[in-house]
Amino acid sequence: MRSWSAAWASAADLFWAHQSPSDHFRTSIGDEMAERMLTEVADVDKRLGHPPEFTIIDVGAGDGDLLRRLRDLAPPELAHRLRLVGVDLRPSPDDTLDWVIGTAPDGVDLSPVVGLVMAHEWLDEIPCDVVECDAGGVVRLVLVGGDGAETLGPPLAETAACAEYDVDALAASDWVNAWWPLRVPGERAEVGIARDHAWRWLAGLVRDGVALATDYGHTMESRRPTLVGYREGRLTAPRPDGTVNLTAHVSVDSCAAQVPGSTLYTQREMLPSVTPPPIDGADGPARARALARASTVARLRDPLGPGAFRWLRVERTS
Ligand SMILES: C[S@@+](CC[C@H](N)C(=O)[O-])C[C@H]1O[C@@H](n2cnc3c(N)ncnc32)[C@H](O)[C@@H]1O
Repeated sequence: MRSWSAAWASAADLFWAHQSPSDHFRTSIGDEMAERMLTEVADVDKRLGHPPEFTIIDVGAGDGDLLRRLRDLAPPELAHRLRLVGVDLRPSPDDTLDWVIGTAPDGVDLSPVVGLVMAHEWLDEIPCDVVECDAGGVVRLVLVGGDGAETLGPPLAETAACAEYDVDALAASDWVNAWWPLRVPGERAEVGIARDHAWRWLAGLVRDGVALATDYGHTMESRRPTLVGYREGRLTAPRPDGTVNLTAHVSVDSCAAQVPGSTLYTQREMLPSVTPPPIDGADGPARARALARASTVARLRDPLGPGAFRWLRVERTS
């Protein structure tokens, strides 16, 4: 049996060694999101006085789709100054983008840039530990086997016993007390320390510009355990054996507290709505395109779907 963070980290390596994101989920990436990101890029570019090189780093870039869309949509006066960098565990499907293969944050060496650093549906992939309040009110580490079967491990108060599972129990305890206090037997928390670290790292990659992470998230008011698996678009039990993609919502308020100036929005707040075209007027194909766009944006703003995603954003200036 292992801690969830250890089991999840090996499972993620195994899963992503053989799988492509598009085979398993539909994320928010498309032209509509690229256009929204481009407004962010244009604002930063203007604020920075149109620097000679504007870097966009996408962490957890998947197949590099968003970066390619940004390159295609950028106006000429910006396009020739863009440096596009994808970071992912997986190789780039083509050689038209700068690409860094590695396990972010700690397995990737990048210097701070002028521009935009973004991560879409990456923070929720960062392995985290799970702890549970036992029948006696003691918070213990949850241990898991490769088949997903769980058992309660040592109490967080037993730091040496937790260290055998590579868990810093003091840090976990502090985090749980501050961000996800457990009081009732059976209650669980997904410990956000590694996600906090990931957001600090992402923000630290910006010398001048903006860092932006968008993800499934929750705050103190809405905490609930969310660890699940995904396979071919379906929810599955979370088995850390590399056959399913593991994900848990991000405690975005704790991430935000790590980086002064971080602000939190919902995706619905960040994406302007699009009014569907009237029945008369536009010609057939144009009207069909406009309708498709309005329907995509409506999906991305759906408060019961991607519209509830959280956007973490911070501006940095050297
Ligand atoms: C859910 S997909 C999102 C892909 C894309 N950003 C999108 O929104 O469509 C997550 C991506 O993050 C990558 N990934 C997961 N953990 C990572 C890590 N620790 N470092 C770098 N990439 C990681 C996976 O390989 C995968 O391509």
